[in-house]
Amino acid sequence: MKVSQERIEKHIKRLSKYTATPNEGTTRLTYSEEDLQARTYIKEQMKAYGLEVREDGLGNIFGKLEGEKKDAPGVIVGSHFDSVPNGGDYDGPAGVVTGLEVAALFQENQIKPVYPLEVIAMIEEEGSRFGGGLMGSRGIAGYLQKKDIEQLKDKNGISVPEAMKKIGLDPSLNVKRNPETIKAFLEMHIEQGPLLEEEQISVGVVESIVGLTQLEVTISGKAGHAGTTPMDRRSDALVAAANIIAKFPQIAIEEGEGTVTTVGRHEVFPNGANVIPDKVKFSVDIRSSKEEHIKNVVQKVKDVIASYETDNIQAEVEQSLYMEPKELNQEIRSLLQASCEQLDISYITMHSGAGHDAMVLSDITDVGLIFVPSKDGLSHCPEEWTAIHELAAGVEVLYETVLKLTEES
Ligand code: GLV
Ligand code: MN
Ligand code: MN
Repeated sequence: MKVSQERIEKHIKRLSKYTATPNEGTTRLTYSEEDLQARTYIKEQMKAYGLEVREDGLGNIFGKLEGEKKDAPGVIVGSHFDSVPNGGDYDGPAGVVTGLEVAALFQENQIKPVYPLEVIAMIEEEGSRFGGGLMGSRGIAGYLQKKDIEQLKDKNGISVPEAMKKIGLDPSLNVKRNPETIKAFLEMHIEQGPLLEEEQISVGVVESIVGLTQLEVTISGKAGHAGTTPMDRRSDALVAAANIIAKFPQIAIEEGEGTVTTVGRHEVFPNGANVIPDKVKFSVDIRSSKEEHIKNVVQKVKDVIASYETDNIQAEVEQSLYMEPKELNQEIRSLLQASCEQLDISYITMHSGAGHDAMVLSDITDVGLIFVPSKDGLSHCPEEWTAIHELAAGVEVLYETVLKLTEES
């Protein structure tokens, strides 16, 4: 073995260049020009490490090293390569680079696995372009039908197939993976919280992942002149939305046990300073480690919205994503912990408050997820940072675990 910090750093630095907002963090929306640049680089690296590369009907990238056993299920390692708007360089890429480094080590050490090794780079985990999120893994798990995919549009009305074709991808290809072709999925991710750094621990072995849902709310009112329409004759969609949104934090606080709600995106129409808004669209992200809390909060949020409906203010609520909390595979967790012990790398077991592709893929295969420290616990912002040696320690743990899983019968 010897994990190469140099290679890891090179890949992280290179991928960070593929951003639509240079000097203001990583903005790499799915099927954008920056996606194409990152995708081209990832595919080139996969080929250089001896992997056979293919893309599926959503543009998820797979690089495969055949195993000795014929038609055996693969051990998949990777993460996503899209980003939030003005995000960091590590959320997603840390896991993709882990996959690349594991493949490089297999090549360097001339390891011919019994079970295939597959490196994966998934699309649209963040949902920043098409909403909902976890799209690549939901496609692989078979949760998205072709017709659903065709209907997904970005805020400019561009559909998934249209956007894919624009960067040379083929939406007619198959997306759903037969679960029998997968032996396990392993993901390394930055923690996105402060615990590992504070405790000076190298690795978090994730036991469970938060449940989450996202709602898309549309409030409709009536447009009018900002100067001439008296205050008592207005149906201002933004004023209604603002009142509604202001109630959400208290709902989460009352639910307790770490339940959280966030309105992170809203659009106002027609968005003119002297026009009364006639439509507002906003997202609501609701999370808890207990499913009952998510369900309660969804109901309370819907009740608040309904309470603002009048003859002139209408509301529509759509649920764009629902994932129940997940517990990850016990055997893989034990294998990951054993790898940490064997390598003398400090670890703790953890819960994840962020969503991950691992939670979707855990429905169709055995999944393991580890975290490495995040500086100041920051993520989804340009300041997101993890030291290269900390990434390398996580890669060592995954490499060791992949070795076991690709050998074992
Ligand atoms: C992904 O970063 C999520 O937790 O939404
Ligand atoms: Mn993220
Ligand atoms: Mn992520």
